[in-house]
Amino acid sequence: MPHTSPERNSWKSRTGFILAAIGSAVGLGNIWRFSYLTYENGGGAFLIPYLVALLTAGLPLLILEFGIGHERFGSAPLAFHKISPRWEWLGWWPLLFTMFGIVLYYSVVIAWCLDYLFYSLTLAWGDDPNRFFFESFLQVSSSPAEIGSVRPPIFIALLVVWLLNWAIIIRGVGRGIELANKIFMPLLLLLTLALVFWALNLEGAMVGVEAYLRPDFSKLADPMVWVSAYGQIFFTLSLGFGIMIAYASYMPYESNMTGSAVITALANSAFSLLSGFGVFAVLGFMSATQGIPIEKVVQQSIGLAFVAYPKAISLLGASGPVFGVLFFLSLTVAGLSSSISIVEAFVSGVEDKFAINRPMLVSVLSVLGFAGGLVFTTKGGLLWLDIVDHFINNYGLIVAGLLECLAVGWFFRLEIIRRHLNRVSKLQLGTWWNLTIRFALPLFLCVILLNQLVRELMSAYGNYSWGSLMAIGGSWMGISLLGAFVLATRQWKTDNHLKGGRGEEL
Ligand code: ALA
Repeated sequence: MPHTSPERNSWKSRTGFILAAIGSAVGLGNIWRFSYLTYENGGGAFLIPYLVALLTAGLPLLILEFGIGHERFGSAPLAFHKISPRWEWLGWWPLLFTMFGIVLYYSVVIAWCLDYLFYSLTLAWGDDPNRFFFESFLQVSSSPAEIGSVRPPIFIALLVVWLLNWAIIIRGVGRGIELANKIFMPLLLLLTLALVFWALNLEGAMVGVEAYLRPDFSKLADPMVWVSAYGQIFFTLSLGFGIMIAYASYMPYESNMTGSAVITALANSAFSLLSGFGVFAVLGFMSATQGIPIEKVVQQSIGLAFVAYPKAISLLGASGPVFGVLFFLSLTVAGLSSSISIVEAFVSGVEDKFAINRPMLVSVLSVLGFAGGLVFTTKGGLLWLDIVDHFINNYGLIVAGLLECLAVGWFFRLEIIRRHLNRVSKLQLGTWWNLTIRFALPLFLCVILLNQLVRELMSAYGNYSWGSLMAIGGSWMGISLLGAFVLATRQWKTDNHLKGGRGEEL
């Protein structure tokens, strides 16, 4: 017999909600991932598809996710159940592949940042940060099949990361997540402004800035640049994760949701663009001091933050360690505010359906998160991370976003969501938004997916063997999908699903 659900968690203020949404969006993706993608995809050339993806997919979908969570009044599984019980699995699937996929390796990258924060004090990487990162720190094996032993410094830092995640989330939405973001976000902004200002004053910084802003239009003809841009927008805005749905559901009825979505999306991209100045100024500095062209400064772009920055830190002389601590502290803070949001989305879904007590649930998830992350702390860890990240970002998030558009746009009255958003928000959405969700976005996303799939079939990603790709990436997606169907068929232990949305009477 379902029992009446306890009162829903809620934010203490709209500012708290917006800061938490920005905290989820702004993360390693804005500094580590954005900068290496921009570097890899021709500097300024990447900014064009990135901004196009923001306006054509990111913003409309963020508004949709805020609308679903707020109007259907529930975490992703509950909201999709209320759209139609047949779609409940679509609420669970992203929660599973993010809680048991993204956040596992994401926390490991935060752990690297914590280690590097300490390494900055002694410039532990010596004269060759590239070699230090890949050979001494990660000790990367030659194939994902060679997992090898766990790397102790990463293991210890990962434990600290999960203790921090646990300590924040267990305190709940208002006293935990909201409070943490109220501290983290201003701190992150200050750290970033200080770093960018510092970086822009380095010798050669302007050469880097020029490379960052100079568009190379020939790159726009490469479909992979577009695929990366759309993948990045999903990742950076935490779209297709189920997070924004849960966060919006914690807002009271009278809340300017559309305005909040616009603020979140703009603040997130402004943050990426700002930190891009810092990264490229440092690359310019390295190019000038070492006399090598900027495109050749970093060999493996995935290591940009862990190779280029340490190099620059060493070149800075006495102020290097301070710069290093600030940089890795900013990455850690940005990462934590996102990792807590991923876990919270899952907690929210389980609380809504199974009414499991929060402290126990958060504790179990933290232990599982830590244990599951161990594989990424091994010598094969970087290769596993690369494969899982590739599958989840380029397929999982985009397919989840596509299905969200189809489920709400074609199997539900999207108009209910739009009219609800217009009733509670100052900023009014025209019918163009319905057209975007029903036609334009599914079309874009299908083109992106097909393109990606064809390329994938023509040549295996990253020169890995098909066996490794399927065993790691393919099974990760498949098992999470199966888990979603299983969870969707379980009986509701609360009566949340019997209540309607907030805007149906319209
Ligand atoms: N949105 C988060 C990031 O960009 C996941 O890192």
